[in-house]
Amino acid sequence: MSNDIQIGGRDGIQVTQLASQSNRHGIITGATGTGKTVTLQVLAEGFSRAGVPVFAADVKGDLSGIATAGKPHKEVDRRVKLLALGAYQQRAYPTLLWDVFAEHGHPVRTTISEMGPLILAALLELNETQSGILYACFAIADDQGMLLLDLKDLRATLSWMGDHAKELRADYGNISPASLGAIQRRLLVLQEQGANQFFGEPALQIEDLMINDFSGNGVISLLHSEKLLRESPKLYAAFLLWLLSELFEELPEAGDLDKPKLVLFFDEAHLLFKGMPESLVDKIEQVVRLVRSKAVGVYFVTQNTSDLPESVLGQLGLKIAHAVRAFTPKDRKTLRAVAEGFRNDEALNISKMLIELGTGEAAVSPLNEDGAPCSVQKAVIAPPESRIGPLTIEEREVVLKRSPLKGKYKTTIDRESAYEKLSARAEKAAASEKAEQSRKAQEKVQQKAEKQERSRQPRRSNRQGIGEAFLKSTMRSIGRSIGTKLVRGILGSLLK
Ligand SMILES: Nc1ncnc2c1ncn2[C@@H]1O[C@H](COP(=O)(O)OP(=O)(O)OP(=O)(O)O)[C@@H](O)[C@H]1O
Ligand SMILES: [Mg+2]
Repeated sequence: MSNDIQIGGRDGIQVTQLASQSNRHGIITGATGTGKTVTLQVLAEGFSRAGVPVFAADVKGDLSGIATAGKPHKEVDRRVKLLALGAYQQRAYPTLLWDVFAEHGHPVRTTISEMGPLILAALLELNETQSGILYACFAIADDQGMLLLDLKDLRATLSWMGDHAKELRADYGNISPASLGAIQRRLLVLQEQGANQFFGEPALQIEDLMINDFSGNGVISLLHSEKLLRESPKLYAAFLLWLLSELFEELPEAGDLDKPKLVLFFDEAHLLFKGMPESLVDKIEQVVRLVRSKAVGVYFVTQNTSDLPESVLGQLGLKIAHAVRAFTPKDRKTLRAVAEGFRNDEALNISKMLIELGTGEAAVSPLNEDGAPCSVQKAVIAPPESRIGPLTIEEREVVLKRSPLKGKYKTTIDRESAYEKLSARAEKAAASEKAEQSRKAQEKVQQKAEKQERSRQPRRSNRQGIGEAFLKSTMRSIGRSIGTKLVRGILGSLLK
């Protein structure tokens, strides 16, 4: 059986997405109510059948119906017939439910250290001076191999920095009480928005987003995002960026496989870029481009293409455009942008097609075997096999009760065990490096001794003095250290 994903069709022609091109990203656009979510659902089902795990943000809760079988319906039957979907079968798909607030799914957490200063500064909307101080805070912690697990750790470290601003100035720059105060206030606001729950251990392990069920179907992970988007859209963006960065840093180079290892659907995708500093947008663009060779496909869902930076749009292979409205001048601008996005000299005809599309119909351009865009086709999107619409609260509970991850993330690990777990992880990474170092050391005992002698220069010992003072003081308030210098990747997340 082919792994390719049927998107829809028309007049006996099938419009499919090649599994082998699915790490080349994509975009789904369209005005409200035109069928974006159902299209996402159809694609997610197709990937799952092909054995590709899926991660998707469920922004309105209406994607959760994917966990239960659809019921016969006139419109569904019409599409099955029209598209001659012989293998169509109403059924549930293997689903994991996740929720930052731990109310409607398994809790999703990461640590401050793992998220890193770049994303965190954007999350807190810090200005340049404040960002500088946050960077210094991470530099101090990283230099000392200190892990900042939760918001409490970060706040304690910042307040320690305030107390030792004078000693720290030489190495880490000016640390003004006003800027420190501003960061602390932002952290308080974030805490009130529910981020307290988000930062801590056990952190989400990306392996848990990359599982298949007993029949080989890819498991679909849904992030419940209704409350998150309402109360803290920045945290939503920060989480998705962290996830992307984590996948990029942790997965090995894979090249072009016959199908991706994971696909991500980022709904309300404009939030990933809106109000973000340019330096961060550049890096997101870079990670999106590079994550392809790690066999990860990223699909953006948004109402308006012009919400995404050109540099990102240029990398998206599959294009699915639902109906665009053309009432206001702004609408017409959107229409032009979407039509031109198809890179076709018949932009005028495409515009016409885009206005006339019905619900659940779209202008589609997948990539062919050579990775070149196919010409735009008008397609009736296939109906999903699972339910269109949300799960009830009771149904969600059943899915959670049956989850293979039940209990794994439930309880926050207390200080002691969090410290031990993270230490072990970092020590494992440090172990191979240490083995290599000691081998070298044995070879050059004499040379090394001389080197150490030379390295005992006044400035360095001064710096260590501050470091030791820092350790003593923060160990009391935080009590966690792994003693190895930490290294960060492109988006500033921790390398393991
Ligand atoms: N492929 C399809 N098969 C059957 N019905 C569909 C299909 N696509 C859309 N529909 C119908 O259209 C409705 C609206 O679609 P959908 O919820 O996907 O729109 P949307 O673009 O996500 O809207 P919003 O912007 O409000 O989230 C669905 O509830 C469903 O009834
Ligand atoms: Mg929708």
